Order: sequence, then C-alpha cells, then structure tokens
Amino acid sequence: MSTVAKTPHEIRAEPMFDVHKIRRDFPILHQQVHGKPLVYLDNAATTQKPLAVIEAISNYYRHDNSNIHRGVHTLSERATEAYEKVRAAAQKFLNAASSKEIIFVRGTTEAINLVAQTYGRKNVSSGDEVVITAMEHHSNIVPWQLLCEEKGARLRVAPINDRGELLLEEFEKLLGPKTKIVAIGHLSNALGTINPVREIVRMAHARNIPVLVDGAQAAPRMQVDVQELDCDFYALSGHKLYGPTGIGILYGKMELLETMPPWQGGGDMIASVTFEKTVYNRLPYKFEAGTPNIADTIGLGAAIEYLSTLGLEQIEQHEAGLLNYATQAVGAIPGVRLVGTAKEKAGVLSFVMDDIHPHDIGTILDSEGIAVRTGHHCAQPVMQRFNIPATARASLGLYNTRQEIDALVAGIYKVQEVMG
Ligand code: ALA
Repeated sequence: MSTVAKTPHEIRAEPMFDVHKIRRDFPILHQQVHGKPLVYLDNAATTQKPLAVIEAISNYYRHDNSNIHRGVHTLSERATEAYEKVRAAAQKFLNAASSKEIIFVRGTTEAINLVAQTYGRKNVSSGDEVVITAMEHHSNIVPWQLLCEEKGARLRVAPINDRGELLLEEFEKLLGPKTKIVAIGHLSNALGTINPVREIVRMAHARNIPVLVDGAQAAPRMQVDVQELDCDFYALSGHKLYGPTGIGILYGKMELLETMPPWQGGGDMIASVTFEKTVYNRLPYKFEAGTPNIADTIGLGAAIEYLSTLGLEQIEQHEAGLLNYATQAVGAIPGVRLVGTAKEKAGVLSFVMDDIHPHDIGTILDSEGIAVRTGHHCAQPVMQRFNIPATARASLGLYNTRQEIDALVAGIYKVQEVMG
C-alpha cells in the first residue's frame, strides 16, 4: 500500500463524482444482456442496489434478526436499535423536525393510501374537494378517487400545458373553501417535470389547505427539505432510492399526525388494549401496526447513508448533465419526438417515434442490452393529455454515463433500421 501523501493539487484534481468508480458499487450493472453490456435506463421504475444495501440486509439476517420493540434479549435490542437508527437517518435526510414524523410504510403508494384513509376520511365530507394535477401517477389519483367515491366528494384536476408543466394559475383557481387537501407529484415519472412545490404549498396554505407531496421520483434525484418545502406530507419509496422494495417513508407534520386516527390496527400500534377500549401508541408507532419490514428498513438506512455520502447535490448535477446530453442527442434524431419538455425537469426522457409502437422500441432496445420502460408508466391520464397510447422512457440513475446515452442513441437508430 502506498504511503505517499497526496499533494493539495492532486487532491483537488480528484473528480468529485467519479461515476466509473461508483459503478463498481453496483454488482448488477456488470453483466451482458443478449450479448451486449447492460445499459440500465429504467431507474424511474426501480433503481439498482449498491453492495452496501445488499450487505446490510444480508448482515441483518446473518447476525441480528429478531423482532423489534418487544424483547429484552440482545438480538431484539440490536434489531430495535438498527431499525430506529434508520428513522433518525431518514429524519436527517428529509430534514424533518422530529423523528416521530417519519413513518415506515411499504412505499409511496401505501403512504398516500394511509393519508387518504386517515386524514382524508376524517376531514373530507360530501361536497368537499381534493385537488391533484393532470400529471399524477395512478398512486396519487386512485386513493383520492376511492376516498371521493366513499364520501361523495369531488376530485379536481389542475391542467398542464403542452410541455408538461402545471398551469399554476389554473391550479390556484381550483383552490377554495371546499378543498380539503392538495396532492401533487414533486417530479413526474412520465414527463420528468419538476413541480414548484414551495409555491404550490404557499398557495394552499394561504387557504389553510394541507399539501401531500408524492416524492417517489424526486427523493432519489434532489435534496429534499420538508421544512423548507413546508409540505404537510411527503411520500417516498425505498426501491427508487437505491434501497430495497417493500419499504418507504411517509413524512407527516406532527400536529397533523397527532390528529389522525390510526390506519391499520394490530400489535405495536397500541398503548393498551381491553375489549372495551384500546388506547393507541404514541407517534410514530400509532401508524406502524404489526411486525414491520425490519430488514428492508435497515437496507433503506444503508441506501440513505450511501446517497448522503455521495451527496444529493452531486447526484442532481450529474443527472442534470446527462439529461441535457440525452435530450439533445435523442431530440436530434429524425422521427423522434420528446414528450415532456418542461423547463424544470429531471431524470426522465420520454419519447415517441413516427409509426413505431413504443413496445417495439422497448423490445429492440432490449435486444441491444438497453433497458427502458415502455407503456403508460402508471400515468394513463398523461397519455390521454398528449393523445398517445404510450411512450418509451429512458430514466436516469446516478451510475449512468454518457457512453450509455450514446448506446441509447445508437439503439434508437437500430430501431428505425429494423422497423424499416
Ligand atoms: N412508478 C414507477 C415508474 O414510473 C413504477 O416506472
């Protein structure tokens, strides 16, 4: 091992974000698909996991597996400590005011359903309104539809323009005394649009309306500060954050969480139970009934640590450079049209091709080793808005490179060649 100290010049010359070094942390990336090096551009669907995450889960099962909050024995204490450490890390990651505001759930979908079924059921009545936007993922539409159907309330949808940007003035016009909650995506999974959440929250709060933010796509791509955003709820999924599936976070402001009834009943969410009456546990346990997903929470903790070490700002910058490069390169291909060209955009490049169905694009790209998602991306109303059945979508992750974008471009030409 060399013991020669680096000169200040050498230290400065080291790249801040060495993508090739980072790629070594992700074993799955180093494989061939159909005889070609894998180019993984489906990160909006799910991200790959660094060794740190894989090992954290494996180590937990090898050494510490036990139920939490229940035992006095050593393994249970270790498991409890590891689980609660992740809550503290998540609080820091989102800059929540308290770790009691961090609730572990299965993912973004469950987080939104939890809010709809607790806050929503308590506060939305017949004739009330819930406001969303035309670019929402199904998981930020259907839970509200279910609530509105049950309560006789109305779902109002703020429109978007041809670039895929929210029409803020139209959005504001929808807010009124009947509006009981606003639910909005931070970053659209189908279009890549970044919504002006701070401004939206300001408009809603001026009318005492709480705001839920679906942060599934934003949390892996930008620094999220829930206190700065001043949102009331923020939902995210571990598996899009380079962590495991089946674990996610609901952040909620303490004063709202305190007033909300529990969602699911069972063990751990109670302080005391008799057949006459159950007293619920304090926050955050009131919303974590049953044995939680301990191993994947610990995996999520490793992902948060991994991202925090790399730095969300660096990740954001890296992906912004790649998106810019990809937008120019893919946008310049004759016969290709980008869908979603918002000024504020990140991570996602959706496109359609003249006379070629997105499904064929996806299949031919796959034969070149390139993984993209094709279809409606769980956002059918977005497809309806643009009058298309589907798109092909390349979505970026922190480990993607310009060479991979070049491979995508070559792949698209190949699609044209094959489809004549
Ligand atoms: N919501 C995920 C996506 O956009 C599944 O692909």
